[in-house]
Amino acid sequence: MLFGKTILITGVASGIGACAAELAGQMGADVIGVDVREPSSGFSSFIKGDLSTAVGVEEIVKQLPNRIDALANVAGLSGNTGVTATLAVNFYGLRALSETVASRLREGGAIVNVASIAGYGWRANLERAKTLTAVAGFPDVASLVSEHGLKNEEGYPLSKELLLLWTMRAAHEPLFKARGVRVNAVSPGPVETPILKQFRAVLGDARVDSDITRVGRAGNSADIAPAILFLCSDGARWINGANVPVDGGLEASINADVLGF
Ligand SMILES: NC(=O)c1ccc[n+]([C@@H]2O[C@H](COP(=O)([O-])OP(=O)(O)OC[C@H]3O[C@@H](n4cnc5c(N)ncnc54)[C@H](O)[C@@H]3O)[C@@H](O)[C@H]2O)c1
Repeated sequence: MLFGKTILITGVASGIGACAAELAGQMGADVIGVDVREPSSGFSSFIKGDLSTAVGVEEIVKQLPNRIDALANVAGLSGNTGVTATLAVNFYGLRALSETVASRLREGGAIVNVASIAGYGWRANLERAKTLTAVAGFPDVASLVSEHGLKNEEGYPLSKELLLLWTMRAAHEPLFKARGVRVNAVSPGPVETPILKQFRAVLGDARVDSDITRVGRAGNSADIAPAILFLCSDGARWINGANVPVDGGLEASINADVLGF
């Protein structure tokens, strides 16, 4: 499915990104890993880079080859470092990398954004999401946060709401669509990675435990990575602008509560 493809994966030093990189390698892909931290396992091609600033994104892009088949945007923050950093990495940095890399993605290539069940509220908060995704480029995120009075505890869910909305819009933007580049999202439920402990601190144990109880267990990285890589592959060539929940049925269960069926 991925044999001979060049796949750029962010967040490879830990959790879901590390697992996706390993699996892509096993499937015959050439993986270029990006992370702000050094991965413990050896990468033939690793770029140490910081997605939280425009300069950081530019530095990463400078080191990339001219032709890439897919970009998996996996890197993310839990919100425990505040709303500014979280929006910068989880949305504006991710979007800047995707937009800058677009011209190197081959015709028929793909972008896969790792969002979250935490972005479920994008419809309820649509006007805010529209306003914040309409800000072009890599803005001064601190100013945006103060202008809109955004609170630290809103950072993580908000970042994923923006990401889900942008995924649908990007699928139809000429920058991607004219090149035949598909843009999709995967939304995990709670997954046993180092970030889960931070979610417990940010969102509270009750929220995390309730999500896990609804579906019987927390996920693990190996539950999520295959869905990301499928969306990167040609097998997903007719899937575009979609959000695929990979959560053991959590979103279906929440839909039933919220919509009353
Ligand atoms: N684990 C979960 O419960 C869960 C649930 C839903 C969504 N997600 C999402 O899955 C993605 C991966 O999370 P994970 O569970 O593997 O967490 P993780 O903490 O194990 O991995 C996140 C990786 O992102 C990297 N990163 C953070 N800031 C960066 C920056 N500025 N530049 C480059 N890299 C940076 C980290 O160094 C780390 O290696 C995230 O986007 C997260 O929001 C996770």
